[in-house]
Amino acid sequence: MLRSALLNVMIKAALKAARTLKRDFGELEHLQVSLKGPANFVTAADRRSEEILREELDRARPNYGFLGEEGGKREGSDKTHTWIVDPLDGTMNFLHGIPHFAISLALEREGAIVAGIVYNPATDELFSAERGKGAFLNERRLRVSARKRLADAVVACGLPHPSRGDATVERRDTAAVQDRVAGLRRFGAAALDLAWVAAGRLDGYWERGLSPWDAAAGVALVREAGGFATDLAGGEAPFVTGDIVAGNETIHRELMQTLKEAGKLVPPI
Ligand code: IPD
Ligand code: CA
Ligand code: CA
Repeated sequence: MLRSALLNVMIKAALKAARTLKRDFGELEHLQVSLKGPANFVTAADRRSEEILREELDRARPNYGFLGEEGGKREGSDKTHTWIVDPLDGTMNFLHGIPHFAISLALEREGAIVAGIVYNPATDELFSAERGKGAFLNERRLRVSARKRLADAVVACGLPHPSRGDATVERRDTAAVQDRVAGLRRFGAAALDLAWVAAGRLDGYWERGLSPWDAAAGVALVREAGGFATDLAGGEAPFVTGDIVAGNETIHRELMQTLKEAGKLVPPI
């Protein structure tokens, strides 16, 4: 597989940031600290990762804008390009020593996501996609799953932290989907959920209230793997609402339908 200069830039930055994340993840295991300690430690790890990503990306493309979860938005002199970066997706997993977290990095060009990578340092799995060139896991080309029936599907969801989101709506949605699928999962890293849909491991995924950095790269992966990723009403720009449904054509449609019907049956309180 011959990678473009753009993907090489993105991958180099992610691998460098991943080295510190991995070291910090290892450190966490040995930390004998108060309950507050690990959380602060993870925040520091998160910031370090974003700093490295910004430095590396700035060096390669000094004029591009940058939108990072930790540092917010910085306009570039090139207004047509913006990096969209989550330096650590799956913070809660990381904090608990669960090796399921990722760096998510996407490039937006004039409003469209043209490239995305999601890298899990703990498993060394690198998911990458570039518009019109397909999606890959390391060197292997990806394709979304071929399952046609929701009843055979394994589907993942996101659940909001109690401090945000609407628990009533989430319970209503999960109950409705759980009744119709073969298996419901909650893994805790949105970028990897989407990457796993692209890889055909998950047949579908939905979550409400995501931020652009959680989903930008993953949405590119799903679409380049032949899948669909939209908002809950089928709109092509899921970053506007932050609500996302993803899957192959059939599972995506059935999931959207299930969530729509659930909304009619039990209106949110
Ligand atoms: C979170 C994870 C989680 C999702 C949340 C995100 P963070 O990102 O992706 O799976 O359910 O909505 O905020 O905080 O770990 O970067
Ligand atoms: Ca995130
Ligand atoms: Ca994050």
